[in-house]
Amino acid sequence: MAIELPALPYADNALDPHISERTISFHYGKHHAAYVNNLNGLIEGTDLADASLDEIVSNAEPGGLFNNAAQVWNHTFYWNSMSPDGGGDPSGELAAAIESSFGSIDSFKEQFKADAVGNFGSGWTWLVREGDGLAIAKTDDADTPLAHGKTALLTIDVWEHAYYLDYQNARPAYVDTFIERLLNWQFAEANFIP
Ligand SMILES: [Fe+2]
Repeated sequence: MAIELPALPYADNALDPHISERTISFHYGKHHAAYVNNLNGLIEGTDLADASLDEIVSNAEPGGLFNNAAQVWNHTFYWNSMSPDGGGDPSGELAAAIESSFGSIDSFKEQFKADAVGNFGSGWTWLVREGDGLAIAKTDDADTPLAHGKTALLTIDVWEHAYYLDYQNARPAYVDTFIERLLNWQFAEANFIP
């Protein structure tokens, strides 16, 4: 059973002007779709042909299979980490956990931004469960918390293809917009309280 490209959780132009329809058309329609196609080409006819995406990501050795599978998983998680009605602050138990782990919501936002801006190359910044608390995790290239047994709550893609058409080299402006206008706290809250 082939791995499918999940539908976006909103219309292609729903994040405009923060993330343009043109960016979505390339990022989702070309990059994400290519990872899905590459992955299906790699598992077709193998004993992984019927494996779930989570099983492949969790068990693959470093290399092309892992990279494509993880990028499929990461991008689906990224689309859900944003919302046309995003931004603002978390609430309830997640807000309390963030205040406990980072000192305050604002302090979390500052640390998340610093991590995302500070990733020298291509990668991802995540909010993850760590022990009894929460932590920010940086991953490079296709790497993902799922491969390290960690539960992700939200993520931002800081590969240049995520922002270059809209922000050119201004990654900090993209990260600010993600945090203040797009971040889907309801998704993070749902992941925090499974
Ligand atoms: Fe991406």
